[in-house]
Amino acid sequence: MQGGLYLDAVLVAGAGKPEVDVVMDDLKAKYLGQIAQAGDEAALEAIRLAAVGKKGEVALQMRELGRMTPEERQAAGPALNALKDEINSALAAKKAALADAALDARLRDEWLDVTLPVRPRREGTIHPISQVTEEVTAIFGELGFAVAEGPRIDTDWYNFDALNIPGHHPARAEMDTFYMHRAEGDNRPPHVLRTHTSPVQIRTMEAQGAPLRIICPGGVYRADYDQTHTPMFHQVEGLAIDKDISMANLKWTLEEFFSAFFEVEGIKTRFRASHFPFTEPSAEVDIQCSWVDGQLRIGEGDGWMEVLGSGMVHPKVLAAGGIDPNEWQGFAFGMGIDRIAMLKYGIPDLRAFFDSDLRWLRHYGFASLDQPTLRGGLSR
Ligand code: DAH
Repeated sequence: MQGGLYLDAVLVAGAGKPEVDVVMDDLKAKYLGQIAQAGDEAALEAIRLAAVGKKGEVALQMRELGRMTPEERQAAGPALNALKDEINSALAAKKAALADAALDARLRDEWLDVTLPVRPRREGTIHPISQVTEEVTAIFGELGFAVAEGPRIDTDWYNFDALNIPGHHPARAEMDTFYMHRAEGDNRPPHVLRTHTSPVQIRTMEAQGAPLRIICPGGVYRADYDQTHTPMFHQVEGLAIDKDISMANLKWTLEEFFSAFFEVEGIKTRFRASHFPFTEPSAEVDIQCSWVDGQLRIGEGDGWMEVLGSGMVHPKVLAAGGIDPNEWQGFAFGMGIDRIAMLKYGIPDLRAFFDSDLRWLRHYGFASLDQPTLRGGLSR
């Protein structure tokens, strides 16, 4: 009897296997093999339709269930579902593997050497005023000056009074100031579009105290318009405060600056006595130049060109900034950025700076990735 039972079991597991099981084994081997071989997503999709699609072979087998005995159906149904699941997860795994391989291939093929030099492009350029501001900042940075900034709309106290320009002073009228409109009953202090960068001296003294070494570049406003004047233009203010600052320090600093800026060794300056309310003594400063065949040459010859105003900071100005004039002293200067840009780069008309003429910008603009530095060259 025992022998008989054993024989039955062998028959069930082997040759006597129900037909549906054999078919399922074949389907499984066939589709898992095809999936393993598939080279792309399109091939995978074709396999999916043929195997587990609505009219695929597994669905066809499902339909056979109806013709089976209940016992057969009970075994074959779950087995077919399991086969379907197995094929679906093999498809998903292969799909993910194909995507990984595609990404790897892209990463291998699409690369960029970020250390290569940039191709010079002339479409977008740096405006000469931005360029010159960067150049000035780089040079004074080397000399130990930090950059300070202030608001373009300021009170008349910062723009005038604190700089020793009281209400009746003619300098207020000379500067052709733009006053901000004030509604009736508005008691706030009058505001102006700053007429110079000098108010940043006061704001920085208040904020940082002494000692101090700063430059303040930025836009300023005056109601004026001709070949050498525009209602908005740019200045850079300089201020150095310490215990023993003198006019000699000022002269040395300016000569260092102009030599570096105009890229000519040993430019001489000439100080002419002048008057500014915020400095005492005051000087207007000229740089050495010559005219050769109608061409201006900076730093040579025996001509002179006025470039800035300067002097020793007036004690009242130090006091307005909260600094004790008995303990501290300093020099200050103010210079037109647009003006020195015109001189350095041979730009004849100031108004062109603000016309946004593309041809002009292409001609006078600077390559956008050249950062001016003293070592790397200021203007290449
Ligand atoms: N603020 C003056 C102007 O706009 C320029 C100036 C002159 C600034 C002398 C200074 C200075 O700091 O000391 O005309």
